[in-house]
Amino acid sequence: MNVADSKIVVSIMQENGYAVTQEIRQADIILINTCSVRENAERRIWNRLAALKKTKEKKPDLLVGIIGCMAERLKEKLLEDEAGVDLVVGPDAYRDLPHLISTALTGQKAVNVMLSREEMYGDISPVYQDTQKVSAFVTIMRGCNNRCSYCVVPFVRGIERSKDPEMILADVQRLSRLGFKEVTLIGQNVDSYRWGNRGRKSSLDFARLLDAVAASVPNLRIRFSTSHPKDMSDAVLHTMATHSNICKHIHLPVQSGSTRILKLMNRGYTREWYMDRISAIRSILSECSVTTDIIAGFCTETEKDHQDTLSLMKWTGFDFAYMFKYSERPGTKAASDLEDDVPEAVKGSRLNEIITLQNSLSVKSKSKDLNRVVEVLAERRSKRSEKDLFGRTSQNKVVVFPKGIHSIGDLVKVKINAHTAATLIGEAQE
Ligand code: 5AD
Ligand code: SF4
Repeated sequence: MNVADSKIVVSIMQENGYAVTQEIRQADIILINTCSVRENAERRIWNRLAALKKTKEKKPDLLVGIIGCMAERLKEKLLEDEAGVDLVVGPDAYRDLPHLISTALTGQKAVNVMLSREEMYGDISPVYQDTQKVSAFVTIMRGCNNRCSYCVVPFVRGIERSKDPEMILADVQRLSRLGFKEVTLIGQNVDSYRWGNRGRKSSLDFARLLDAVAASVPNLRIRFSTSHPKDMSDAVLHTMATHSNICKHIHLPVQSGSTRILKLMNRGYTREWYMDRISAIRSILSECSVTTDIIAGFCTETEKDHQDTLSLMKWTGFDFAYMFKYSERPGTKAASDLEDDVPEAVKGSRLNEIITLQNSLSVKSKSKDLNRVVEVLAERRSKRSEKDLFGRTSQNKVVVFPKGIHSIGDLVKVKINAHTAATLIGEAQE
């Protein structure tokens, strides 16, 4: 989300006569797009600000802005303790940046953290800097109306709103004309996408949007993220099955395998419901990978709850997971109503067990592709070797293979010969 938003910010700045530099020492303004989802993300920003203070001493005119979720969460507090911040701009206020910068240039502190019911930045075309344009994000909805008790997102990104489907289709077709080969439709909860009044014939839900996007650009690969287990419908799965250009990968954050913990998290589903969604994926789509997010050590989590998470991971056989220790966020329901009572050491050891198990599941997932021929979209050169290309399969598995006659942006049939826990290694078939 922040990667996509940063491209909107660049577009707004360029429209107003600013240019991007790759060289931080040349910058007159530094905008840091931030995340608040865990305390650690914010800590890293404070460290970055401390380092920038020295740069500022040498270059007193340098403006430093905190933008995005941390700006929204901390507001004026970011200006208080001599951190060297001149501008604070929330995720719905980026259009105001040029005006805020003018204010900051006069030596005043500038803040806009207004959230909006409508802002989609639909008319602003993101600026793609990459010389090789292969894969792009298209934001289809912003904000979140769920109230997962641990999560700060609804407070910092505001209420749910969806983008006009005509604009989404125009974005996707523009990307196709620019030569992109893949788009990822993004939103906090894509299954909540809705255009028009619910129940009306003309109203569009995510399944229908996905169908329209896939049909409009048959030569582009389509991905989407993030799905919510309580809302992911069979209709979405059937749409995926209908279109060969929709990648067969679903990111479906489970968070915990314990129904008791899921209830305390206010996730709106049980362990059994999650299993039912996985069964639906397996029966409607033959070759779909499933990845997830898991939180270890949420309030009151017992060893049994933790074992429930491990057993659900095994049962599902996740292809990949993002795994975190629970981090209490001020202002959330969990922070006010529940005690963060799992000791740090226990959180750590549970997270380690989750990571160890996922590593073995990831190896298993990769080994399924051994000796198979998979279709890979070459995204870039491999970081390890100039002679290799790096790409992904439809299932979002990373593949590295010798470049041969192929170029970035090609769809290549690759025979898989080996793998690590993270990467498939193969050679092109033609
Ligand atoms: N502590 C730990 N992880 C969190 N996430 C969201 N809030 C928290 C928190 N307070 C994780 C969830 C979510 C992902 C984006 O971040 O797993 O799916
Ligand atoms: Fe946060 Fe839950 Fe919304 Fe995801 S669905 S952004 S975890 S509140």
